[in-house]
Amino acid sequence: MIVLDKENRVFTLHTQNTTYQMKADQHNILLHTYYGPRISGGDLSYLIQYADRGFSPNPNEVGDERDYSLDTLPQEYSSCGVGDFRIPSIEFEPEDGSRLADLRYADYALHQGKYSLEGLPAFWGGEEWETLVIRMRDTAAKMSVELYYGVLEERDLITRAVRVVNQGTETVRLQRCASLCLDFQRDDLDFITFDGCHTMERCPSRAPLRPGIQSVNSLRGTSSHHHNPFVILCDRGANEDYGLCYGAMLVYSGNFQAAAERTQLENNRLVLGIDPYNFCFLLAPGESFTAPEAALVCSPKGFGQMSRQFHRALREHLIRDPYQGKRRPVLMNNWEATYFDFTADKLVDIAKGAQGLGIELFVMDDGWFGSRDTDLSGLGDWSVNLKKLPGGLEALVPRIQALGMGFGLWIEPEMVSENSQLYREHPDWALGVPGRPQTRGRSQLVLDFSRREVRDYIYESIQKILDGADITYIKWDMNRSLSDVWSAALPANRQGEVYHRYVLGVYDILERLRRDYPELLIEGCSGGGGRFDAGMLYYTPQIWCSDNTDAVDRLRIQYGTSFCYPVSAMGAHVSVCPNEQNGRVTSMETRGAVAMSGTFGYEMDLSRCTPEEREIIKQQTAFFKEHYDLIQQGDYYRLSDPFADPFTAWEQVSPDGREALVSLVTGPTQAAAPFRSLRLKGLDPSLRYAVNGQGAFPGDVLMEAGWPLPMPQGDYQSMQLYLSAL
Ligand code: DGJ
Repeated sequence: MIVLDKENRVFTLHTQNTTYQMKADQHNILLHTYYGPRISGGDLSYLIQYADRGFSPNPNEVGDERDYSLDTLPQEYSSCGVGDFRIPSIEFEPEDGSRLADLRYADYALHQGKYSLEGLPAFWGGEEWETLVIRMRDTAAKMSVELYYGVLEERDLITRAVRVVNQGTETVRLQRCASLCLDFQRDDLDFITFDGCHTMERCPSRAPLRPGIQSVNSLRGTSSHHHNPFVILCDRGANEDYGLCYGAMLVYSGNFQAAAERTQLENNRLVLGIDPYNFCFLLAPGESFTAPEAALVCSPKGFGQMSRQFHRALREHLIRDPYQGKRRPVLMNNWEATYFDFTADKLVDIAKGAQGLGIELFVMDDGWFGSRDTDLSGLGDWSVNLKKLPGGLEALVPRIQALGMGFGLWIEPEMVSENSQLYREHPDWALGVPGRPQTRGRSQLVLDFSRREVRDYIYESIQKILDGADITYIKWDMNRSLSDVWSAALPANRQGEVYHRYVLGVYDILERLRRDYPELLIEGCSGGGGRFDAGMLYYTPQIWCSDNTDAVDRLRIQYGTSFCYPVSAMGAHVSVCPNEQNGRVTSMETRGAVAMSGTFGYEMDLSRCTPEEREIIKQQTAFFKEHYDLIQQGDYYRLSDPFADPFTAWEQVSPDGREALVSLVTGPTQAAAPFRSLRLKGLDPSLRYAVNGQGAFPGDVLMEAGWPLPMPQGDYQSMQLYLSAL
């Protein structure tokens, strides 16, 4: 609910459990007055303290009123060069070369429903949303800055976006345009980021904010494996169930920066948006720029509640029809089974091995096109390699379908190999500066997706493939970071637009696919989880979580990912042992328990499984399908921390509390292991539950007294408990 106090120019955004407030003051400075647990409201500007701080200057119009300084006041969207020396939200340069932004409140608009952003992913929905737009203006530069707020009360979600319009008669260079600025009048916050590398993504890292700026970012052109565009600020003592925490995500798949600053007043500022490195948009008179959406959830009850609100909001209001609610298939992918070394007959043999195991979709991964026998060649030539697949997809797909499975296909549309027909014909279609040798990544170059003709060509080649066979799924891969970012299609003074235009290009082509093939399921991928972000989820309802398929490493990766993203977004497969990435051996049961807390599938040669393994696989797929809604749509509880605890446990609870699934994987084994029990969460204390079909255990007992952990006889053993209310 948005409450306006027109007289005092106070804007209060209430969600179910939180309140957010800002106020335009007597100088038209938009002050941020509060964000935290829900309160009744009123004008909270009484909280703001005014004091003359040395070297904190004063706006011209306040004269000698030295205790009024932009440097100390909490700002809703920070300016720059006119007295606020903390992290700026915006920077622009008119033709006179000045770099000041002095934003003052102008007016507002309020409407029911959710705003949308042209060409950009954004949360969507109907009357359950309210939108507030606040317009600010820099009168000297004739720049208008519209701040968008979407309020989804039930999910405690506040979205933000920013549109900058050049209302003057000169061209302006926009050099920074953050999506979100949040000034906390709070001390003692911890900053949590989700970091890692290829094959070990999104590991939480937590530290108290110290004076100055701490930030994570990506300059890789993608959101990256290395830092995720999702961060948390929280009370020092916050944990899964207690304490105040703020989650902030960027709905964007390119360069980003999340910067937190502890100020001289020991308050904190968070700024989230596109990284300013090599970002510069030219805005001619009348032109505008829209910064990607950011979204906030504040939870007064710890990380668990925050995550569940994000999960629901992402599932219900970001992921789109038909895959919002539609079941996703249990798939098998041939990558780790064959890599590039396959023929149609070999694939059919593998598919035969999968027959009768409950697998619903067969995915043919990399290596089916052009001259792609290794990762040195072929990208860009999206036509079937007829030597490997005689008769093409038209012949192969029906053979797979005859075995009772749908057919899916891997593509990597944004890339080109130098050894390809496409590159030989259009070398300038790759990003690169003339006269400089390009940096290769996985021996490939990046196509300039900022260019329409490049996208059209690639789109048409994908279309030909999709129209020629019955393909129900594609895996959209992207296997390197961007470098040599320069477009042959733009003049020198517009090269700072390329990174962002590239991302818009990716979104454009994904949106076309959605328009032309509405039933097609697209799984995002970037060498695993290198582009695991809310921007991609708008187009690809699931994303391959990591190239690391080891169940034990995956416990950590999926744990970190779960802070923001739902189970239904996480691509997870059972693969062969010893594991291909780290050589670890785990049981089929453990691999299954971990992978089924994702979109679930197998990535191994199922024709080589033993009869015992086949039996286990059959049971796993049947169990997964039986409890699909609980696993995919249930409320998610982290019951332990795999980075700190001797076991990893998590739980899904149905929205009505009548069913739950608890999964647990023990750590390295130990003789004379301590007796431990696990306290469950989210159950209905007044109900009695059968556990794996046995007994009648009261919900309050299971939550307060817990369930005894098994005594492991070996490393990394798993246990699953299915609870159903009697
Ligand atoms: C990286 C992906 O993450 C893998 O699953 C696989 O598709 C390879 N690329 C293929 O090149």
